[in-house]
Amino acid sequence: MALSEDFIYQLRLGNPIEDVVNSYSTIKRHGSTSKCLCPFHSEKTPSCTIYSDTQSFYCFGCGAGGDVISFIKKIENLSYYEAVRFLAERAGIAMPDTSGDDFARKKSRTYEINRETANFYFKCLLSGSDKRGLAYFKERKLLPQTIKKYGLGYAPDQWDALRNHLRSLGFTDSEMVTADVCRFSEKGSCYDNFRGRVIFPIIDLRGNVIAFGGRTIDNRGPKYLNSADTPVFKKSRNLFSLNFAKNSSSKKLILAEGYMDVIAINQAGFENVVATLGTALTPEQARLMSQYASEVIISYDSDAAGQAATQRAINLLSSAGLTTKIIKLHDAKDPDEYIKKFGSTRFKFLLDESNDAIDFELSKCKTGLNISEDSDKYTYLRKVVGVISSLDDSLLRDVYISKISRECEINTSVLYSKVEEAIKNKHKIKQKLEWESTKRSLTQRDEINPEASKYSAQSKAEEFIILYLIKNQDKLKEIKNKISADEFVTSLTKKFFLQ
Ligand code: CTP
Ligand code: MN
Repeated sequence: MALSEDFIYQLRLGNPIEDVVNSYSTIKRHGSTSKCLCPFHSEKTPSCTIYSDTQSFYCFGCGAGGDVISFIKKIENLSYYEAVRFLAERAGIAMPDTSGDDFARKKSRTYEINRETANFYFKCLLSGSDKRGLAYFKERKLLPQTIKKYGLGYAPDQWDALRNHLRSLGFTDSEMVTADVCRFSEKGSCYDNFRGRVIFPIIDLRGNVIAFGGRTIDNRGPKYLNSADTPVFKKSRNLFSLNFAKNSSSKKLILAEGYMDVIAINQAGFENVVATLGTALTPEQARLMSQYASEVIISYDSDAAGQAATQRAINLLSSAGLTTKIIKLHDAKDPDEYIKKFGSTRFKFLLDESNDAIDFELSKCKTGLNISEDSDKYTYLRKVVGVISSLDDSLLRDVYISKISRECEINTSVLYSKVEEAIKNKHKIKQKLEWESTKRSLTQRDEINPEASKYSAQSKAEEFIILYLIKNQDKLKEIKNKISADEFVTSLTKKFFLQ
């Protein structure tokens, strides 16, 4: 549907880009531009710039850019039309026609189907003739009250059990397919999506069933099958068990990898546990967690994949302003197995002594090295300098500098100066990259700095001076005695010169 120019104009007026961006990442104003930590990639110094006059944004770090609608499209993972609707709702502006009602109806029918489906699977688990689902959960040591609390279920091993049930309640095949509880075959017949699987309903914060995960009980097909995105479900934006975790009084959340881990941890007495839904952690999920907690204890699997995912999660969670701790599982592949093997009290000890994220990074630097050997110690220290120099807080840097100096029996001041040197180098590289990406964006976006194309020879010379200064910062004073900022013809090179 085409939206009128007037409507889009009104939509932009009602949604100043600074306000919209600010609700995802705090912005700092500098005149007609503002800056914030880019919500689309991890970074420690702000490179996402918001231009008030053109109502646009551009990130010099990752290249994301556009207007307020493209910002919402990207951050909320929506189509153009959905992003417009999102912004209209945000500003209290009515959508221009009634096609929205159609979408609202689709959503409410999907919620109804999901609720009926969850009830159906729950009944099949407890009182169906096929007892394999219940036997499976029993073998995995789930208590009856846990099954009830999570509303777990069993999808019968048939092609049409759910479909027939939903038909009898008056739902159409195409509504079932929209909710992704059924699919159409190539010949056009409608069949159940989950067959012969135990079912984990996914419930949102308002208590609506929004999707399902189904696990095989006999190793047929993929281990887990998850609902695709539907009108009521985006897997990148929801977390399993957040409906329970949000009620916990703890300001800490435990983040696990799988459904069974969450349920086992919850059953062991910890309400504050969540998991992603068959995908790696997303920035949206990290932000969602930051609304309920200040600290996240990452409790991923102990295998290599789990450890790599831990690394990724640390970055995303820190960008969302959360402190992170890591649980190290010994002699168990995941929390579910750990609790079964060693009990919940020991898991609680593990939670209490979880290492923090920096310790985790530092201990990784040691992998494969024997630091009682001089050459390995040297390699270790070089890696450690990289980690410490990436910390923003100088106090924190000092804490780790003294810790590592003690460990390696070296002089604190030596390590200190190496870290300082690394910080300076990083700063130089960053300035250079920023300059290059600014230049690149200017050639594409002449509207921001039209002066460059007007005075191409002068602006080239000015660029040369800036690059020279980035490389030779000690010459700044000398050059400043010879040229003044006012002699620069383009305001951008002038700005860099003044910095
Ligand atoms: N997963 C998925 N699809 C798969 C395998 C895994 O969506 N084919 C997701 C599920 O959300 C699962 C999580 O990744 O819970 C972790 O996978 P894995 O560690 O293999 O499973 P566990 O949670 O340990 O499951 P179980 O204990 O039942 O074997
Ligand atoms: Mn497991």
